[in-house]
Amino acid sequence: MNVYLASGNEHKLRELRAALEKAGLSCRVLSANEIGGMPEVDETEDTFEANALLKAEALRSVGPTYAFFLADDSGIEIDFLGGRPGVRSARYAGEPCDDEANNDKVLAEMAEVADPAKRRCRFRCVLALVGPGLSETFSGSCEGVLLHELRGSGGFGYDPLFQPDESPRTFAEISSEEKARISHRARAL
Ligand code: IMP
Repeated sequence: MNVYLASGNEHKLRELRAALEKAGLSCRVLSANEIGGMPEVDETEDTFEANALLKAEALRSVGPTYAFFLADDSGIEIDFLGGRPGVRSARYAGEPCDDEANNDKVLAEMAEVADPAKRRCRFRCVLALVGPGLSETFSGSCEGVLLHELRGSGGFGYDPLFQPDESPRTFAEISSEEKARISHRARAL
């Protein structure tokens, strides 16, 4: 069975590929680049589920008939901000997608919020798997708290601001093995 990963995000690809290889599944994990690259997709929907399906179906439309396609839509939801950035996480500070600007914007919006109980947030990931006779979504989340400053140099996106309940360290400070055990993406997978 061939599974194509419907993403152009190198970080997500690395995490998904490592987890799939570790799981020892009898499928070949292939990149969108092998079928001309990930098509441009306007992520117009309001849910992670719908956006993940859009991406998986977009790659399927240019891929082989009998293959499967796995897409990831994910983001961070901050309770105090009513769940924002949520599905808009990648482009929260505008186009083009800029992790540093996104982190600055979230820090500015949360600057006056001192109580850690009010800084609760979660990473959420929805994976869509589509193929012949199959169109399903799977979700996973990881609860934690949004810090007041960036900590750590690993990972990507909002990782340096996010301290999961499972660790005193941020997603940018823990090893990739530990992130692969507790992350929203790992749980969806
Ligand atoms: P998507 O490509 O529309 O799914 O946007 C995902 C965005 O959510 C990324 O650009 C990051 O800003 C954020 N995000 C998702 N997963 C993670 C993660 O594991 N660590 C840090 N940020 C993440």
